[in-house]
Amino acid sequence: MTEMTAPEIAVVGPGGVGTFFAAHLAAAGHAVVACARRPFTQYVVDSDRASVTAPARVATDPEQLEGPVPWVLVGVKAHQTDGAGPWFDRLCGPGTTIVVMQNGVEGAERLAPHAHGAEILPTVVYCGTELAAPGHTVHARAGHLFTPDVAAAHRLAELFAGTRAEIRPTAGYVDEAWRKLGLNVVVNGLTALTDRPIAVVADEPLRTVARGILAECWAVGRAEGSTLTDDGIEPLLTGLGGAPGITSMLQDRRAGRSTEHDALYGAVVRGGIRHGIPTPLNQAVGALLAGGDPG
Ligand SMILES: NC(=O)c1ccc[n+]([C@@H]2O[C@H](COP(=O)([O-])OP(=O)(O)OC[C@H]3O[C@@H](n4cnc5c(N)ncnc54)[C@H](OP(=O)(O)O)[C@@H]3O)[C@@H](O)[C@H]2O)c1
Repeated sequence: MTEMTAPEIAVVGPGGVGTFFAAHLAAAGHAVVACARRPFTQYVVDSDRASVTAPARVATDPEQLEGPVPWVLVGVKAHQTDGAGPWFDRLCGPGTTIVVMQNGVEGAERLAPHAHGAEILPTVVYCGTELAAPGHTVHARAGHLFTPDVAAAHRLAELFAGTRAEIRPTAGYVDEAWRKLGLNVVVNGLTALTDRPIAVVADEPLRTVARGILAECWAVGRAEGSTLTDDGIEPLLTGLGGAPGITSMLQDRRAGRSTEHDALYGAVVRGGIRHGIPTPLNQAVGALLAGGDPG
């Protein structure tokens, strides 16, 4: 697209997750623009229960858009955030709400340098997807975002009303964020470093390592206000041991791409330093992953 128009919603980084949420908004009739590196003309969500197609408006250069816009949904991976800075410079201002659809617990801090006065709404993403081609995502499970229980989250939920993508504002957001980070620090590193599926967590002695990684993570989480206790560790590990599939970090590793190790393990280590909690396992796994990243 080349015309200078102000959309209602910009989705920066329409990958697996971004395309899922952009497609549902576009199909519901909202004025959405996908801010992408590669052009496409149509959204396709392939799914058992949330399939949708819709025409896509796509910009590949921030200069093609007028901003600021009311909503900016962030779908780039955590380590790609600064690279997407020119989009945020163009699209964000005091009337904007930035919705951070990324793993990890530091979304608000990560986007703060790019906000230009915008409100930042962190989320916990449950949306099993993989980008098959630009604009085309294959959806396998879930399709919702947990958010803090704030006014912006309820306005966001209204945007998605009637769609198969759901916004779930919750007073228990801190617990949701650390539950998901715990899950991520267990499965992502262990699958990527062993080149094995998620069920690798069931194998001793990896289950022992997983137990230690999770205990460190949730100890930091409690210091940050979560109420998750170590009673939840064994049930979570048992569930993961029976889970199908591989992780996106293993996919990234196999494809020779950088991984989100800093947004996951780095977040635990930084939190540990803030609160005086040792996190040697998270530090070690993060360092091993960083050492395997390209460049
Ligand atoms: N996918 C899942 O199942 C899932 C589930 C839960 C949470 N998450 C989290 O959700 C976040 C997004 O994951 P994802 O799987 O959707 O990632 P993804 O498929 O890799 O999507 C990221 C997209 O951002 C685009 N991008 C990167 N830099 C850009 C830039 N400067 N300008 C415009 N576009 C740019 C990429 O473009 P190209 O396509 O050209 O590379 C890609 O399409 C991550 O934090 C992830 O951990 C993912």
